[in-house]
Amino acid sequence: MQDGSPVGLHAVGSVAVRTFAAHHDIQTMTTAPQSMDGQHVNAMAGGRDSTDPARLADYEEVPDGHFYDPDAEYEPDPEYAATLAPDAARQRRERIGPTGRPLPYFPIPGPLADHGPAKIIAMCNQKGGVGKTTSTINLGAALAEYGRRVLLVDFDPQGALSVGLGVNPMELDLTVYNLLMERGMSADEVLLKTAVPNMDLLPSNIDLSAAEVQLVSEVARESTLQRALKPLMSDYDYIVIDCQPSLGLLTVNALTAAHKVIVPLECEFFALRGVALLTETIEKVQERLNPELELDGILATMYDSRTVHSREVLARVVEAFDDHVYHTVIGRTVRFPETTVAGEPITTYASNSVGAAAYRQLAREVLARCHAE
Ligand SMILES: Nc1ncnc2c1ncn2[C@@H]1O[C@H](COP(=O)(O)OP(=O)(O)OP(=O)(O)O)[C@@H](O)[C@H]1O
Ligand SMILES: [Mg+2]
Repeated sequence: MQDGSPVGLHAVGSVAVRTFAAHHDIQTMTTAPQSMDGQHVNAMAGGRDSTDPARLADYEEVPDGHFYDPDAEYEPDPEYAATLAPDAARQRRERIGPTGRPLPYFPIPGPLADHGPAKIIAMCNQKGGVGKTTSTINLGAALAEYGRRVLLVDFDPQGALSVGLGVNPMELDLTVYNLLMERGMSADEVLLKTAVPNMDLLPSNIDLSAAEVQLVSEVARESTLQRALKPLMSDYDYIVIDCQPSLGLLTVNALTAAHKVIVPLECEFFALRGVALLTETIEKVQERLNPELELDGILATMYDSRTVHSREVLARVVEAFDDHVYHTVIGRTVRFPETTVAGEPITTYASNSVGAAAYRQLAREVLARCHAE
């Protein structure tokens, strides 16, 4: 990480430059990870127990409720570290995470006294089937478990997010489409409570596909979703938008409304194909519509540490995007397709599973990144 902080962020405008540098300057690839995480190697060596109540008490003064201290001495989360290690003993010894970088410990966030204003995250990749919807549901559920108030926005006319939360999209009278297109429509009429405490849903169905066409003739068509979400900002800590697999007007609306983008990438051969176009789109939105927009991170999904292929793809992704890649990696497990059928997040469907641990870890990493700003 450029600034030496464990969770340093860079504006998305730097993505293309850094990607280019990674291709053409071997120096960028070899030096960045060492300087970036050297601090962690030292920081984690002490191994104090961060769940010790006396230790947590030290942090009660932290204003927004996170027990996050970048200089503290942490152990990597053993439950998570064990799940993704091809050579668990070596990784524990060297404290190396699946991305090949030292794995920091992301502490369990403390309770919040107040809620809002929301950070809006767009889960975006125009490639289909990379884990956008799965990540939206499970990151949302994990954040909600940690006491954050979460709103999930289904922004795909397929309605997969709604289905994944046990809602039948065909039976809905009001969806996010009505909120976008009908003036005077209140979000309360469209909002659904989910079975997960602290987590609500703005559902969608095939009606939303009409919005893409109808919005073309609207004034300020790219900021329609932003305007619709504005009244909800004070009620939530995080709003996560599940984008459809395209870079059309709906996705541009999501990017215009968002503060941050998470890009899930499946660990397979063509993972990086199309990512340049995606980062270009993000940069254009940042320049023309939403200067606050930042790439929060690249999330490697469907990783299988047993295959050389998966490991090579992940190494390639880290080479191209270094610090932008989350330390947390989502492993491939049949439990995820099962959760879609069950209509609930993995954190409740299989609470003790590896997949649930991974999304809790991701939630902690996302919170730590937000807190470090
Ligand atoms: N880590 C994982 N391991 C195994 N299967 C997964 C994993 N993540 C997602 N899947 C499965 O892969 C399929 C695609 O995932 P998902 O629907 O989340 O992707 P998506 O990017 O939202 O797709 P689309 O572009 O069609 O909206 C689903 O069947 C899902 O259950
Ligand atoms: Mg989807």
